[in-house]
Amino acid sequence: MIPAAGGGSRMGVARPKQYLPLRGRALLEWSVAPFLDLEWIDGVVVVLARNDTEFGKLPLARHPRLTTIVGGSARADSVLAGLALVAERSIAGAEVRVLVHDAARPCVSWADVERLRDEASDRDGGLLALPVADTLKRAHQGRVAETVDRAQYWRAQTPQLFRLDLLLAALRAAAARKTEVTDEASAMEQAGYAPRLVRGRESNIKVTFPEDLKLAEFWLAQQQYLS
Ligand code: CTP
Ligand code: MG
Repeated sequence: MIPAAGGGSRMGVARPKQYLPLRGRALLEWSVAPFLDLEWIDGVVVVLARNDTEFGKLPLARHPRLTTIVGGSARADSVLAGLALVAERSIAGAEVRVLVHDAARPCVSWADVERLRDEASDRDGGLLALPVADTLKRAHQGRVAETVDRAQYWRAQTPQLFRLDLLLAALRAAAARKTEVTDEASAMEQAGYAPRLVRGRESNIKVTFPEDLKLAEFWLAQQQYLS
């Protein structure tokens, strides 16, 4: 499931970042491609903004394994809308797993998606993440309060993999409490689970600011060279 209903305000351009051109395709097409290619994945749901005018123009829109649904004003609302559609399309009682991947991460490798499946398919689920490389300082009023143990800190990426029923319950509980969740794992953590950290790659960047486009281009060029 790919949440792609954001407006991309930090990019500073009118067009949502998922539709910006990147090596001859829309950024979103790169983000979705590995999931359409992996045959063990039953289907792909892309969550779109209510006022989206661009998705229908992409060749991707006619892919037989892809469906779309309208999202909400926060990322968690979009994810909940997407999950509800997955649940509706699933066989009742089946133990369904769902991968949630940001539309803004065009450089994810299919090999890492498979490692996540292999290492995080239990009830705690898991996510791609990277250990922090820099020395970490806790700040207080613009000065260092202390140096913290960086071995304890990882940067969360996507995809994140969870059992559909458990993730739906966790996100609904977070919504009912009105606690903000910025990724699926945090909703699961609040529900008492301990998602597994599966080591990802530096290349799996989230395109957020204009300069990130150049970096995404670089990583895609590397991947094409390697494959
Ligand atoms: N997203 C979504 N629905 C929202 C907000 C975000 O589906 N209401 C999606 C975005 O499309 C993106 C992913 O969640 O693929 C990660 O969000 P982010 O990088 O923050 O994208 P935007 O919210 O679009 O960007 P910004 O925060 O700069 O406005
Ligand atoms: Mg956002």
